[in-house]
Amino acid sequence: MDIDAYLRALPKAELHLHIEGTLEPELLFAMAQRNGVKLRYPSVESLRAAYEFTDLQSFLDIYYEGAGVLRTERDFHDLAWAYLERAHADGVRHAEVFFDPQTHTSRRVPIEAVIRGLTAAFREAEKAWGLTARLILCFLRHLSEEEALETFDQARPYLDHVSAVGLDSSERGHPPVKFRRAFAKARAEGLKAVAHAGEEGPAEYVWQALDELKVSRIDHGVRCAEDPALMDRLRREETPLTMCPLSNVKLRVVETIERHNLKSLLHAGLRVTVNSDDPAYFGGYVLDNFRAARAALDLQPAELAQLARNSIEASFLPDADKRRLCSEIDGLPSLA
Ligand code: ADE
Ligand code: ZN
Repeated sequence: MDIDAYLRALPKAELHLHIEGTLEPELLFAMAQRNGVKLRYPSVESLRAAYEFTDLQSFLDIYYEGAGVLRTERDFHDLAWAYLERAHADGVRHAEVFFDPQTHTSRRVPIEAVIRGLTAAFREAEKAWGLTARLILCFLRHLSEEEALETFDQARPYLDHVSAVGLDSSERGHPPVKFRRAFAKARAEGLKAVAHAGEEGPAEYVWQALDELKVSRIDHGVRCAEDPALMDRLRREETPLTMCPLSNVKLRVVETIERHNLKSLLHAGLRVTVNSDDPAYFGGYVLDNFRAARAALDLQPAELAQLARNSIEASFLPDADKRRLCSEIDGLPSLA
């Protein structure tokens, strides 16, 4: 087995994936056409050419614009199905998928259409390949906590389909503590919590996500390396970091992938995982992220297996499923 086949064969959980960020330009154009939405780009090529970002906000502006073509339950189904087909081909066995209800409800798309469309595709993928997928409902942090609480109330009838709440969008100036009540409410309903922190924002936001929002994982967490006491805590508490190397290069969180700190954090004993974030915008799905990180950081098979094992352990899967997938990892032939 060569290294590429090994990477594909490793059972992986994808834990940091925005479903709106999987909208490929071809599908975006098809949906615009069938929904009668006018785009300011004349072609798929010209849209793709606009995917040149200088920071998180420059990406978010185009990402929210792109999501404007998503209108119907069928659109959300087709979006999720296209992602799951690709994830299956990459050896993803379980996905915990972010969605941004406020991006859609603000355009008067009912949350029911969003959730029904996404979960219909999830059921089909489980039936076809045994690939399980769950939803993480994200609050947009550039909006108010009041709006987050309203969104949570709208989602209440559908919470059976939701594993956790998350926090995304523009990080700087929107500290986790702003959403303390919304997260407490979600946790009181039995949901887990995760939050983007330490992508562009400071290490202090990672502390807040842990202390104020009581998150089980940190999404990104790149900047935790600036704070040794935080590193210590993340190691001691085995808090997973859902890292996204290609995203971090595209949004200039790191200068080059060779300078990404995922390997040094892994060696420092942190529970690092590799994920794709918004693959339609950042040039690669999860396997591409593994390949790029391996090549740039000279990751060895044992390190790659550890990253895959971490993703399974860090997931919200039941323990029996975690054990089964981890023993599959252990049973893979070792690379000479
Ligand atoms: N929404 C989609 N992708 C995101 C990211 N990388 N950071 C914050 N919000 C996001
Ligand atoms: Zn993200």
